[in-house]
Amino acid sequence: MPILDSRLPLAAAPMAGGPSTIALARAVAQAGGFPFLAGGYQSPDALAEQIAQARSIGSDFGVNLFASASAEIDDDAFEAFVDEIAEEAARYDIVLSPEPVSDDDQLGDKVAMLVEMPVPVVSFTFGLPGASALRALQSVGTTVLATVTTPDEARQAVDSGVNGLVVQGSSAGGHSATFDPTHDPRPLDTAELVRRVKHEIEAPVIAAGGVDGPDAVARLLEAGAEAVSVGTLLLRTDEAGTSVAHRRALADPDFTETAITRVFTGRPARALRNGFINRHHSAQITAYPAVHHLTRSLRRAAAAEGDTDRLHLWAGTGWRSARADSAVNVIRWLAGDE
Ligand SMILES: Cc1cc2nc3c(=O)[nH]c(=O)nc-3n(C[C@H](O)[C@H](O)[C@H](O)COP(=O)(O)O)c2cc1C
Repeated sequence: MPILDSRLPLAAAPMAGGPSTIALARAVAQAGGFPFLAGGYQSPDALAEQIAQARSIGSDFGVNLFASASAEIDDDAFEAFVDEIAEEAARYDIVLSPEPVSDDDQLGDKVAMLVEMPVPVVSFTFGLPGASALRALQSVGTTVLATVTTPDEARQAVDSGVNGLVVQGSSAGGHSATFDPTHDPRPLDTAELVRRVKHEIEAPVIAAGGVDGPDAVARLLEAGAEAVSVGTLLLRTDEAGTSVAHRRALADPDFTETAITRVFTGRPARALRNGFINRHHSAQITAYPAVHHLTRSLRRAAAAEGDTDRLHLWAGTGWRSARADSAVNVIRWLAGDE
C-alpha cells in the first residue's frame, strides 16, 4: 500500500499564505495526483472549513501543519532589524512595532481538531509533532509524515514513530523545513538527498524540491522516492490562490535567480531574488516567527500594490518552468501523461 493513495506518484505540495486552495486540490485530484491543504497561518476554524470542503473532492488528501519551536530572540538584533526596514514600511505608512510577537500557529488546537475530525494524511514541517500528538493522530487512522532536510532529521523523525518522510532538498521553493532555523541549508540536490536518506533509513519517502519538469520527477522516483511533491510548478496554475504580483514576477524575465533568505520571516526560504533581499541580506536575522509577524503588514501592502520589489516571491529553482495553465494539465505533463 503506497503512503499516498493516488493514481499518480505526484503530490501538490502544501503552500500556505494563499496558493493552496480547494480548487487546486480538486484539480490535482482530478488529474490523479495527491492534494495537500496548507494548515499553516490559518485559524483552526478556517482550516476545519477548508477540510469540510475537501471531503467533497472524493479522494484522499493531506493537511500540513507547522511544528515550529520559536527561535530565541536577540532583542538588540531584532530592534536593529526593525530600524533597518522601517523606511521600507514607511512607504506604505506602516509603523513597525519593535515588540517581537511569537506564537505556535495554534498547533495544539489544530491537532485537536484533526483528532476529532480525522483526515487521511497529516504532514508536519519545521519540526516534529510531540509524542502525544503523533499517537493521537495515528490512533484515529491518520498517516503522519514529517518533512526533513537532512539524513539526521530523517533519523529523528523515524525514531519518533512517523509513518513516512517528505524529504525536502535545498532547491525547494518557500521555507526550508529545517528543524533549526538558524542553520543555513546546505546546497544538496534533492535526488542525492533522497538517495542518502534511503541508504540510511527504511521509511517511505516523498521527495520535494526543484522539480522543473517530467525528467526531474522521473529522477526523484528513480532515486527511491515513492512520490514527488511539487510546489512552484503549480503557483501559476488557474486554480492556485497565488497573488497577481507573485504570478507576474514568476513570469518576469527581469528576475534571473532565486536565493535562500531569512529577511522576510526569520526562517530560511527560497524566493526570487528582489530588492528587499538584496538590501537586507546581510541582516542575518533568525527570529521566526517574530520576523514573519513584523514584516507581514508590509508584505500585504506590497502584494496589494503589485510591488514585487518588497514581496516574498517564494520560488524553487524550477520556477522558469511554471506554466500558466490548469493544474490538471500541469500534473498530467509532470507524470508524462499528456
Ligand atoms: C509559495 C510556497 C508556500 C509554501 N508553503 C509551505 C507550507 O505551508 N508548508 C510546507 O510544508 N511547505 C511549504 N512550502 C514548501 C513546499 O511544500 C515544497 O517543499 C516545495 O514547494 C517543493 O519545491 P518546489 O517548490 O521546487 O516544487 C511552500 C512552497 C512554496 C513555493
